[in-house]
Amino acid sequence: MAYDEDMPAGSEGLCGGWRRCWRRGVLALLTAPTLLLIVLGVYLGVRFGSDTPVVYSDDEEHFKYGSTGGEHESGFPYWIFQAMPQVCERHLPGGYRSLGLIFEKERSLPVGMSKRRYMGLDRTFLNCAVCHTSTVRATPQSEPTVVTGMPANTFNIMAFQKFFFSCAKDGKFSAEYVIPEVRRLIRENHKQHPEADEDLDFIDRYLVYPVAVAIMRERLLMLADRFAWADSQHDWGPGRVDTFNAAKVLFNIPVHKLPESELNAPADFPSIWNQRPREGMQLHWDGNNTKVEERNKSAAFGTGTTPPTIDLKAIGRVEKWLLTKDAPKFPYPIDGAKAARGAVVYKEYCAECHGAGPRDFSGAYVGKVTDIDDIGTDRRRLDSYTYTLAVNQSTLYAGYDWRFTHFRKTFGYANMPLDGLWLRAPYLHNGSVPNLRELLEPVSNRSRVFYRGYDVYDPVNVGFVSKLDEATAKKYFKVDTQVLGNGNAGHEGKRYGTQLGAADKDALLEFLKTF
Ligand code: HEC
Ligand code: HEC
Repeated sequence: MAYDEDMPAGSEGLCGGWRRCWRRGVLALLTAPTLLLIVLGVYLGVRFGSDTPVVYSDDEEHFKYGSTGGEHESGFPYWIFQAMPQVCERHLPGGYRSLGLIFEKERSLPVGMSKRRYMGLDRTFLNCAVCHTSTVRATPQSEPTVVTGMPANTFNIMAFQKFFFSCAKDGKFSAEYVIPEVRRLIRENHKQHPEADEDLDFIDRYLVYPVAVAIMRERLLMLADRFAWADSQHDWGPGRVDTFNAAKVLFNIPVHKLPESELNAPADFPSIWNQRPREGMQLHWDGNNTKVEERNKSAAFGTGTTPPTIDLKAIGRVEKWLLTKDAPKFPYPIDGAKAARGAVVYKEYCAECHGAGPRDFSGAYVGKVTDIDDIGTDRRRLDSYTYTLAVNQSTLYAGYDWRFTHFRKTFGYANMPLDGLWLRAPYLHNGSVPNLRELLEPVSNRSRVFYRGYDVYDPVNVGFVSKLDEATAKKYFKVDTQVLGNGNAGHEGKRYGTQLGAADKDALLEFLKTF
């Protein structure tokens, strides 16, 4: 070693003289901490620097469980997420299932939540499937079938949000209660999966998790404050969200100060199949954007991504899959002759706005907007989307190649293709009409009150069962069409088929089952 080179041979003593001893001592003192720091740095780098999502080779699995990057900024520490229903049991006695989240066999996370290891913790957050996947059953006894791309009819996003906010406000959301529950869950998990960790290690227990709980509480309280406006809104119930008022929060628009006419604007989760033939159409319920990619990227905000954290590759994969992803066929018998008669009625009345056939989306007005005075449906969702918001959205991703340039204020609702129509009940942008049979009736004959969130199918009326006995009704959501934002008027009159004779309506309904 360099510091030994000038040492005369045969020097006496332990290090061969005090000077050498001194120099070695100093060097050792200098090297040890440096080495230690390097080792620590590498260790911390490995432990806290990783950024690895759980990936799925199958596209549909990627849609259901893959990450779009939201865990970076908005991710819940995975084990804290799992511990919360127990820690805050009084705010969610039925667990996550009671919010309408779907748990498939052998899965620890519901459909629509992804996992990523980031900064030393497994984190989880929402992806597209949480709002665009649901289940359907033939009878209350049958196994539910999971259908990707359909509206998330059972998922109550307002209740989901409120649970996290009320849990964060609860005194029990502290390291003292959360960490023992996390440890219990980890030990349980280890019993079933011996390769998994057995317990939190020292650093996790005394440093990482206490800090994570504190940070999570702070962030949730901050969000609760920003979303406080939602407390004054009528419940959306399962399957709906006030899309663009929620988006206004992103721009720090003080939602609680907006004119009342912009608020209470619940919108149904739409189906998102067959995106390729939708390119260039004015879509979103009010037709405010003509670009498939922008609709996808704006949707990505719902999954917690922001310009710097969006995982473009992962979203690109979903985008590509959705271009051709088709809806499942109506699984009950269809009367062919009757449907053929219905096709004639459809062509005369509906095709110009909704497309020539089940998968032929051509038509003079398809993907265009029908003026609100003509369509006459509830106008709150339309009025919730404002010019000010459109302008603000154009600043998103400013400086990036994929900056939004296609958002526009419109003055009506979009004429959209009807693919997979049978799974899109309840109908209209606010889910105010329970089934297709009722949509073909004048408003005076439509249900004033019905239930939603139930996944048992009613093939006769084409929609989900919406009239429930008292015991079943308790578990689902009552839609009262008199409540602000729930109006079931409109899409009525000669053009919209509500004046057709009974036989024609029946035939048309049969044809609509083929979509
Ligand atoms: C929080 C729930 C939620 C999440 C998460 C979500 N969406 Fe949506 N999505 C909606 C709602 C609600 C609309 C309807 C918006 C409106 O017009 O009011 C919509 C509309 C769309 C549309 C346009 C449909 C049409 O024809 O009008 C597409 C495409 C879409 N979403 C794709 C995605 C993709 C891709 C993702 C994941 C990156 C995603 N969404 C995540 C709720 C969500
Ligand atoms: C002038 C254009 C126009 C015509 C004609 C028309 N519709 Fe519509 N339709 C619309 C618009 C716009 C909406 C969206 C209204 C809303 O959600 O508020 C709509 C919504 C629907 C929906 C609800 C879709 C969903 O996912 O909730 C169905 C079903 C439907 N129309 C069927 C028909 C049928 C069947 C006919 C023919 C008898 C018809 N429409 C005629 C414009 C039209």
